[in-house]
Amino acid sequence: MSSIKEVARLAGVSVGTVSNVLNRPEMVAPQTRLRVQAAIATLGYVRNGSARQLRAGRSRTIGVVALDLANPFFIDVLRGVETAAQPLDVNVMVFNSNKDAAREAGLLETFEEQRPLGVLITPVNDSDEEERLSRLVSRGIPVVRFDSSAPHSHGCAVAVDDVLGGRLAGRHLRERGHRRIAFAGGPFTVRQVRERHHGLAGVLGPADALTVIPLPDLTVATGRTAGAEIAGLPSAERPTALFCANDLVAIGALQEMTQRGLRVPADVAILGYDDIDFAAAAAVPLSSIRQPREQLGHTAALMLLEEANRPAGHEHRQVVFQPDLVERASTAAP
Ligand code: RIB
Repeated sequence: MSSIKEVARLAGVSVGTVSNVLNRPEMVAPQTRLRVQAAIATLGYVRNGSARQLRAGRSRTIGVVALDLANPFFIDVLRGVETAAQPLDVNVMVFNSNKDAAREAGLLETFEEQRPLGVLITPVNDSDEEERLSRLVSRGIPVVRFDSSAPHSHGCAVAVDDVLGGRLAGRHLRERGHRRIAFAGGPFTVRQVRERHHGLAGVLGPADALTVIPLPDLTVATGRTAGAEIAGLPSAERPTALFCANDLVAIGALQEMTQRGLRVPADVAILGYDDIDFAAAAAVPLSSIRQPREQLGHTAALMLLEEANRPAGHEHRQVVFQPDLVERASTAAP
């Protein structure tokens, strides 16, 4: 890789003149500017962005650690991060912890060296990473948690009220006449799963029957296992409605139950969570509890950049959005 010194030598100018041609070309005489540009082309010089950023003292980049990039929920959140960062000429570096605490720890250590403007993260476990995130903050790298409330944190956080989401699900299924309801989700160490289940359980009556189908993960594959379990029950014991902790589980359950001859919603209604685009596109369009995904990402990014640009004037806050119910064919009344 050619250096700026080699360009200056070939063009017969100082390094400062080359730097001006790159950053303030209007300040350089046309003939000189052309000579420098010819030397850049001849040597194939490419300026080192990270070196430029380091000289300026700070990167123009924010780091984002998503929990599971295989889940379209996080892609939609990232779209919101981009709509906030792009107009401010801030780059977004995206990483996937893939729900692995060790991978998350490695990423946080990398951020200590890379020194981004700030970090957006959905923690793998709301409690374990507190010390590592606090270390980033102590080094002047602000952190905003998204899709995480983490009330004990000293930083900002943006989340959606998952207990309310569970309540909306329970109320909708009861209004449709369902009294034997199943909840499929897990692991229950994940705050979102616990709170969605808690919201559902809180609106069921004493005569209602709630069956929990614990899952090791929230994926289409685990959704299929939930669908198989329900399809294997005698019709007299089978729940008439299934609330899934997210849409990927609901899509898997829908696939498996229809393949095993059950009709949705006639035999079993299905309700998902997130309202990702695939919910509406499913073979039986899925009702879902919609999370404001892009708004979540947009708000978290703006909070982070506000703190990074004006740390002294910044006040930490926790923003909690409300989900809403989107009704489709998978829970339609008979
Ligand atoms: O990450 C698992 C789930 O939690 C996602 O589907 C989304 O609902 C998030 O809140």
